[in-house]
This record gives sequence, C-alpha cells and structure tokens, in this order.
Amino acid sequence: MSSTLKEVGVIIGEASSSEFFFASKPGEMPSRWEYLLTYSEEDVDGKPKQVEVVAQIERVISASQALTKELDFEIIKKIIESGLADKKVWGKARVLGYLTDSGDLQQPKKAVMPGKPVYIAPAELLEKFYSYPEDEAIKVGALITRSEVPVSLSVKGFRRHLAIIAQTGSGKTYLAGIIVDELLRKGGTIIMLDPHADYVFLSRRLDGKRHELADRITVFRNPSSTGRYTESEVGNVKPYEICFSDLDLDEICLICGISSHYTNIVTGLGKALEHLKAEKDVFQPEDLLEKLENVDSWKTEDMDSKIVEGARSAAKYLTRLISMKVFTSGATKISEMLKPMHLSVVDLSGLDDDVSDYIAFRILSDAYEKVASGEFGYPVFVFVEEAHKFIPATNSTYSSSIIKKIAAEGRKFGIFLVVITQRPSKIHSDALSQCNSQIIMRITNPKDQAAVAASSERLGETLLDDLPGLNTGEAVIVGEMTRAPIMARIRKRTTREGGSDIDIMGKMKEAIEKAKEETVENESKRLREEMKGFMGSSKEDER
Ligand SMILES: Nc1ncnc2c1ncn2[C@@H]1O[C@H](COP(=O)(O)OP(=O)(O)OP(=O)(O)O)[C@@H](O)[C@H]1O
Ligand SMILES: [Mg+2]
Repeated sequence: MSSTLKEVGVIIGEASSSEFFFASKPGEMPSRWEYLLTYSEEDVDGKPKQVEVVAQIERVISASQALTKELDFEIIKKIIESGLADKKVWGKARVLGYLTDSGDLQQPKKAVMPGKPVYIAPAELLEKFYSYPEDEAIKVGALITRSEVPVSLSVKGFRRHLAIIAQTGSGKTYLAGIIVDELLRKGGTIIMLDPHADYVFLSRRLDGKRHELADRITVFRNPSSTGRYTESEVGNVKPYEICFSDLDLDEICLICGISSHYTNIVTGLGKALEHLKAEKDVFQPEDLLEKLENVDSWKTEDMDSKIVEGARSAAKYLTRLISMKVFTSGATKISEMLKPMHLSVVDLSGLDDDVSDYIAFRILSDAYEKVASGEFGYPVFVFVEEAHKFIPATNSTYSSSIIKKIAAEGRKFGIFLVVITQRPSKIHSDALSQCNSQIIMRITNPKDQAAVAASSERLGETLLDDLPGLNTGEAVIVGEMTRAPIMARIRKRTTREGGSDIDIMGKMKEAIEKAKEETVENESKRLREEMKGFMGSSKEDER
C-alpha cells in the first residue's frame, strides 16, 4: 500500500493511543475531518505487529513566531517583505482505531510515535472501515470529505435502537425512506407510524414504476382519516379498523382517562358493558353511552346506589371516546402488518393527535405482544416519525408507555425502535437514551443541541460544534451501527417521497398565471356588466 500513499506530515510532540499532533508543510496540510493513516506497533495474539491506524483531523492550526499580534502593521509588512516571516502548520488528530484481520475495529493500546510519518488514508482502507458485507449493509451514502468512499450501516446495529434527529428540513424523512427500503430488501418487517403521509409512496420508484417489492408494501389508513393523498394516488391502501366491541373494560377506561382509583365509576361502567355485550355482539361507543345514561332501566336490585351513580358519572367520560370517531365494526388483525419481509405504512394524516396516538398505541401494543410471546418470530422495526408527539418529555400519551417499553425491553424479543424527531428537547429522555445509535443532521437550536449531547456520550464536543454547519442531507452517525463516528452525505433515493418540500418558486409562478387569468376574467365580467348597463340605459333612452 505504501507505494501509493501520500505523505502529508509527521507526528510531533506528545502522542497517545487516542490522539496525536502532527506537523505539515504549509500548503500540504489536509483539511479538517480528513482521514489519516499512520503505522504503529501493537501486540496481536501475543506478538508485535505493525497495524494501520486510522485517525481523523479534528483541528488545524497555523502560527508564526515572527508575525505576532503585538507588532505594528508596518513592521509586519517589512518582516514579510524581507522574507523573514516564518509559518508553521500543525493539526490535531483523533485516533479511530485499526481493523483486525477479521474486520473488527480495535483501539490501539500503545501510543503512536512522534517522528512517524502520517499519510492520507487511502479510499480502500476507509471503505473497509465504513462499510459492511453486502448482506449486512444498509447503504446510506458516502463520506462528506471523501465522496469516493461509500458508507453503510450495519443491520446488526439496529438491535440497539436508533434515533434520527435534526431540525426541520434537514433530510430526516428522506433518509428514513432510504433505511426503510434497505431494511425491507434485507427481509425486515417494518411498521412506520407516518403522521404526514410522507412514506405512502415507498412502493413507487422515482421513475414512476412499481417498486420490485411493491406487493410487500401496504399503506394502512383508518376510515376516519381524510388522508393527504387519495386512495387512487397511493394505490395500495387497506383500512386499519379498530372494533369498539373488542375493547375490554381496562382499555375503555384508559381511552376515557378513568383512573382505576375511581372504583365506583369503573364498576358502574363495567356493569353497563356487561349488559351491552349480553345484548349485542357488535356495538359502538354511542350504545355504551346510552346504557350509562339510562342506568335506571337496567340496574338490578343488588346494585349498590354508589355504583349506579358511578355508571351515571361514567357517561361524561365517554365524550372523548365518542369524539375520536376511530372505531368501526370491523377489526384489522395485527397479523396483517406482522408478515415476514413486509412494510406497513400507517398513514395517520388528517387525524387528530389524540386519534393518531391511540392508533399508534393499539398497533404497537398488539405488535409487542405478538413478538414478545414468540408468535411472530422475525425482526420487527418500528419507526416513529414526529416521535415528540407520541412520547413527549413531560405529559404521557396513550402510546408513550408502550414506546418506552419497546425502548427498554423490545430488543430482547426482536422488536426494534427508530425514533425520528425535530425536537429532541421535547421528547422523553428515556426513549432517547435507549437509542444506542444516533443519526444527527443539522441542529442550530441550543436547547436541542444540549438534549442531543445529553443522550449521546459518543458525540464528542467537536462533532457537536459542527452540527449547525451541516447541509441538508449531511449527517453525523454515531453508535452501534458503525465502527466509528461518520460524517456522511446521504445518497439519492430511488423511491418517491411523500411530503418533500414544495417547489415554492414554481408554485408562485403558477400563482401569477392564475392571478392573470382571474384579472382577465374579472375585467371581461366588468365589461359585460357595463355593456348590460349601457344597453339597458339606451333602451330606456329609446323609450
Ligand atoms: N440526501 C438528500 N439528497 C437530496 N435531497 C434531499 C436529501 N435529504 C433531504 N433532501 C430534500 O430536502 C427536503 C427536506 O427533507 P426532509 O423532508 O427529509 O426533511 P425533514 O428533516 O424530514 O423535515 P421535517 O422535520 O420538516 O419533516 C426535501 O425536499 C428533500 O427532498
Ligand atoms: Mg420529515
């Protein structure tokens, strides 16, 4: 390898196994974040062996002893003219590690040595560093500083949950679309909670043709959802229905916000439910309300007056449930979503937050149960878009406890979480801290930066400082999915986006054309009316 290596400097000063300084000739100093290679001796299997240590430049510094800031400007100019000005350039690099023969990353135990040359790390070495074998690789893009080096994530890393975090418009959804597509191709079972219908076109390729796996992609939509796109536009829509009569007393209390401490209300409600179930197999929330309001018509002798009163009081809790309009007489089984190698996009667009939250709760609870009980035996990846809505930092929602449960215990059973959010400071810290991998894109808000820093020990201060400078589609990836932190440019998608940014300029030009048409129409209408008036008055004149 050394014949083609480009030497760019030499290690100087104090060096350790984790970082070193190096000096370069002015003009030859590589830029910040460039990858370097140096050789070091390590004990491998008890024998000394020369290993290829990869490092990344964190800081680049230039200085002059002659041109100090204390000097007057005219003197500085004279020193430069006389050729006495000196210039030094040095950099600080962080050691990322070396690869063993089996492809694992090892941290050196010995310090790299001052006096040793440093080289630009060659692309083949970086590719080994940042890619995985085909069957393990989720291909997401290339290194920002070295576009010829492809970057992939390891499927195995999803075992420890992932958070995709960035401010609005930075490319989270675009990237999640790529990851979902790659996971599906690898045989994943994926449930995507999609509040804005951003993922409903994943079964379409950019050229408009059907995805090779289109038959394995289904969009589920509750009948009460207006949807952002029509069924004919999306193409592969199935209803996601929840049957009210299938709910038990605890579930109804949970939806209505009736605490188990209100024993009379809970018991009264339970009695009404028993009566209703004895009368009908299928019923709606309105039927239960009617039973509660007319408790006198069915109460039995032995029913305590407090329980009768409890049933009456329960009626007012049902208003929230009735207003949700989420229940139908049909029920979609979770087995329709939990199929091997299948993507279920749950289109929640056009629904109230409460309803979306309840649907998320149902789906995730049912999925968790099926996976935890061993009934479904394949890896399930749950993507939660706009996760701050489902699992907010302060209050609890229907779905927050099941999401926390998946975050804490899901990996034991094979159910893995990907949370996507633009507001890390507004999401519950339990969910974020369980995500051992993070993909972080542009973040400028200091509160959100602090939340990201608190949830990820792996994100060093230097990487954190660079988050505001990232462009759309650029990401810092840290954690279990990669061997070392990566700054990547995310590749282009092959599938169609749902809610991408609108073409604002194009739309405004269209608006000008529309306004012109309207002006012409209004003008001709005005002229017609004037003519009518004129004709009318000339007829009057004739008379
Ligand atoms: N890697 C990329 N390559 C090309 N275009 C991209 C890339 N990433 C994002 N974009 C474009 O940038 C815009 C914003 O991306 P996206 O919708 O993914 O942002 P977001 O972070 O999900 O925003 P929000 O928080 O508002 O949902 C889109 O129009 C998308 O097409
Ligand atoms: Mg988005």
